[in-house]
Amino acid sequence: MTVYAIIGGTGLTKLDGLSITAALNIDTPYGAPSAAVLRGQYAGKEVLFLARHGQPHRIAPHQVNYRANLWALREAGAQVILAVNAVGGIHASMGTGHFCVPHQIIDYSYGREHTYFEGELEHVTHIDFSHPYDAGLRRKLAAALAAERCEFSTHGIYGCTQGPRLETAAEIARMERDGCDIVGMTGMPEAALARELELPYACLALVVNPAAGKSRALISMAEIERVLEEGMGAVKAVLARVLSS
Ligand code: HPA
Repeated sequence: MTVYAIIGGTGLTKLDGLSITAALNIDTPYGAPSAAVLRGQYAGKEVLFLARHGQPHRIAPHQVNYRANLWALREAGAQVILAVNAVGGIHASMGTGHFCVPHQIIDYSYGREHTYFEGELEHVTHIDFSHPYDAGLRRKLAAALAAERCEFSTHGIYGCTQGPRLETAAEIARMERDGCDIVGMTGMPEAALARELELPYACLALVVNPAAGKSRALISMAEIERVLEEGMGAVKAVLARVLSS
């Protein structure tokens, strides 16, 4: 049976309904992961869970130790990674509360530890990253979103910014010209590191605000938190369906 790992983002530091059998404090050659890797049963399936920003939420997107997180999950036995990310909506179809299963990424982040291939290597491996997300996992996410009657898009381009500040309206306009549909701060280097470790990876993104300049209102954390709280019930139901599929 495939062992799924869920990486929970903002709004999903805990997976209610997970009956925890072990909390694994795993040290890695890259340092400590954001939190203990939780092993347990969810929807009747063995699953691993890691809170990307720590538990409680305290690590900013640019300071997450993505290398340690992915390494620790693999160490714990993960065979597949499902990432949950809160995002801003850029394309008109990406309204607040909408879900997106992105098919592509543009990386605008910088200065992050983004590869396992460094130092004295026997050979440098240039991973193929043409299609950053696993097609089979994306199909499963789409089927689960449809079954839960969520509003969602099966495609979208995720633009990953550095944070922790939100973007300017001009930056979002540029990203839109680049083709980005959604914007977040944690999609990279996570997806690329998963590929380096040969772990199939897909993202379930929940739009929690209109991106900068996309609404007349300023972006409020209170509003983002409200949308997150509302959306997390659906996220958990979708994850349960994917695990059972
Ligand atoms: N920009 C970047 N990251 C985000 C946003 C946003 O508007 N909303 C949630 N994560």
